[in-house]
Amino acid sequence: MGKLYAMTGGATGIGASLKEKLRERGDTVIVVDLRDADINADLSTALGRQAAIEGIRKMAPDGLDGFIACAGLPPVAKPLSLITKVNYFGATVLIEGLADLVAMKKGAIVAVGSNSASMPGLDEDHIQALLSGDEEHSSALVEALDGHNAYAGSKNALIRWIRRKCPALMGEGVRMNVVAPGMTGTPLTEKVFEDADFGAAMTEFQKSIPYGDMATPDMIADTMLFLLDPASRYVCGAVLFVDGGHDALLRPDGF
Ligand SMILES: NC(=O)c1ccc[n+]([C@@H]2O[C@H](COP(=O)([O-])OP(=O)(O)OC[C@H]3O[C@@H](n4cnc5c(N)ncnc54)[C@H](O)[C@@H]3O)[C@@H](O)[C@H]2O)c1
Repeated sequence: MGKLYAMTGGATGIGASLKEKLRERGDTVIVVDLRDADINADLSTALGRQAAIEGIRKMAPDGLDGFIACAGLPPVAKPLSLITKVNYFGATVLIEGLADLVAMKKGAIVAVGSNSASMPGLDEDHIQALLSGDEEHSSALVEALDGHNAYAGSKNALIRWIRRKCPALMGEGVRMNVVAPGMTGTPLTEKVFEDADFGAAMTEFQKSIPYGDMATPDMIADTMLFLLDPASRYVCGAVLFVDGGHDALLRPDGF
């Protein structure tokens, strides 16, 4: 029998690829997104997050085999506080609100981080404000940063939040892991390439990927399928880089 998953950010890009793969093999996926979703909700607001949690709870009263927090905004999103609100709070609040459903089926949670999360020079005050759960303060702090710091900081904090939470959740039978994609060909990446400030750097960054090119969304989705599958039943708290060797190139000793 097919499994039941819920996810955010399934309308386009990496999330859409995962959704299609799950549905093709007979699983049911409840998608939360701004549009083209089973539950249309804006995860940048507390009301939207609540609506998403309530909507999923109604559609999965007997539990979930997995939850995937995939929705995200790029470093070029404006105002920068939107990045904080969607990438960090849109993921952590939903995981908090749905973990008991995943525990009912001893399922798996996968969050989408980024290989930028471990890059040097991130603003630790911003990250600490996120980890303290203070949305107002972290949203104020982020406006003084650049887009890279805002984006990579949101993913750094998300990964640290996940790793802090995952031992307790493992005790309830829920595995939680992070997939950390490198540059991937999606609408999000197109927006960054089109940006006057980021475009040229992105072209150089792309050239330096050891694989030779950026990922396609299905390359990331295939790894997410593994993290949702019993084949990864002993994997918990992992940050799995799926970046064609880019993190290993930039931080060979950082493990
Ligand atoms: N593309 C890359 O190079 C790359 C690299 C590392 C990490 N990521 C991460 O992968 C995830 C998926 O991104 P993608 O590249 O597929 O981009 P994408 O833009 O195709 O997908 C992001 C999805 O999130 C949704 N979303 C955005 N704001 C939302 C909001 N307020 N409420 C609800 N949904 C919202 C979008 O509508 C979209 O469906 C993101 O978390 C992103 O940060 C992407």
